[in-house]
Amino acid sequence: MSVVKQNEYQSGFGNEFASEAIEGVLPQGQNSPQRVAHGLYAEQLSGTAFTAPRHLNRRSWLYRIRPAAVHEPFRSLEHATFHNRFDEAPATPNQLRWDPLPHPDKPADFVDGLVTMAGNGGAAEQAGIGIHLYAANRSMQGRFFYNADGELLIVPQQGRLHLATELGVIEIEPQEIAVIPRGVRFRVELLDDLARGYVCENFGSLFRLPDLGPIGSNCLANARDFLTPMAAYEDVEGQFELVAKFQGALWTAKIDHSPLDVVGWHGNYAPYKYDLRHFNTIGSISFDHPDPSIFTVLTSASDTHGTANVDFAIFPPRWLVAQHTFRPPWFHRNVASEFMGLITGVYDAKAEGFVPGGASLHNCMSGHGPDAATYEKASAADLSKPDVIGGTMAFMFETRKVIRPTRQALDMPQRQQNYYECWQGIRKHFNPERT
Ligand SMILES: [Fe+2]
Repeated sequence: MSVVKQNEYQSGFGNEFASEAIEGVLPQGQNSPQRVAHGLYAEQLSGTAFTAPRHLNRRSWLYRIRPAAVHEPFRSLEHATFHNRFDEAPATPNQLRWDPLPHPDKPADFVDGLVTMAGNGGAAEQAGIGIHLYAANRSMQGRFFYNADGELLIVPQQGRLHLATELGVIEIEPQEIAVIPRGVRFRVELLDDLARGYVCENFGSLFRLPDLGPIGSNCLANARDFLTPMAAYEDVEGQFELVAKFQGALWTAKIDHSPLDVVGWHGNYAPYKYDLRHFNTIGSISFDHPDPSIFTVLTSASDTHGTANVDFAIFPPRWLVAQHTFRPPWFHRNVASEFMGLITGVYDAKAEGFVPGGASLHNCMSGHGPDAATYEKASAADLSKPDVIGGTMAFMFETRKVIRPTRQALDMPQRQQNYYECWQGIRKHFNPERT
């Protein structure tokens, strides 16, 4: 018996959600009665310390057919390209850029198809991120996955995904994202022939919406546009595999039933999805640029107030109206480090070379910005009319710590060895006699 409610969601961010696939499953007035309705087991899943401040505290109560403890012992599982070894190669101040990963030439599901590009920190220190690409051509079959090292922010670039999780089903397409909390078991099914995208593995504090300060109570990503699934369960027995990521390595255990057997749950620790096209973009309506922190969708705080472990920012369609202003992103060097990807369209700081599915990395204090062609065009543009930046969606994982590329990312043929040349055509215009 399998009950899967699809495309039914609860709206809000970090709310106390409640959902039951069979009416009356959820206990009333308490969390763990002596006997749960229908012979289910009660199990708490904590995503933060028990004593975390109330506004940051995340946990859910799951009412399930079998407890999560029921499986055989884990054994080590080799994976050639998915790991957290961020010290294999010297961190480089060079600007880096990559073409998209090719599609797999043999059967590969979401877990098989993960390729670690870069990262910092790690699961042991509960800070930093892992940055991965995925390229898959088949659904996960007879296997389930969970990540004990961090939550997973999945950013599809090609192909729709059906994410069957313990807490319900999420479906996403390019320009939507999903976050699977640390520890939540799930299976990724492909809804199209091929799937490709990006994953941010967040070892630090949970993603949350940024504070808005003087912006006020609305704009950027609004809480009501975040969607959490309704309870759905699988009552299925068979010979399955449970894959765990634990302290940077993969493990596998036999399991004789689907672990997606939660019939009802309540709490505020749950997967969610968000359509990036709902982002209410803010920008200058006079002159100059606000800092790109105005594009932050989600942020993971670090131990230093105001300095994020990671920000997830997007560069969506928008109007550029600022006067007396170089309108594309300006030249800059930041203390933060920036890994960018492109979901669709063209990014307005680059004329060519940064294509959907590709990626770039500009590390701490490495100079970057528009290429020569973009500079020449934008510095002579007619500013009497607004520009519309349409049909595009770029994003950035920005971190306080230097992002260290993996050996495989530095050596892969998709790395553009000539990336630096995009700035070599920038000409000297300086003339002390000219105003
Ligand atoms: Fe930048």
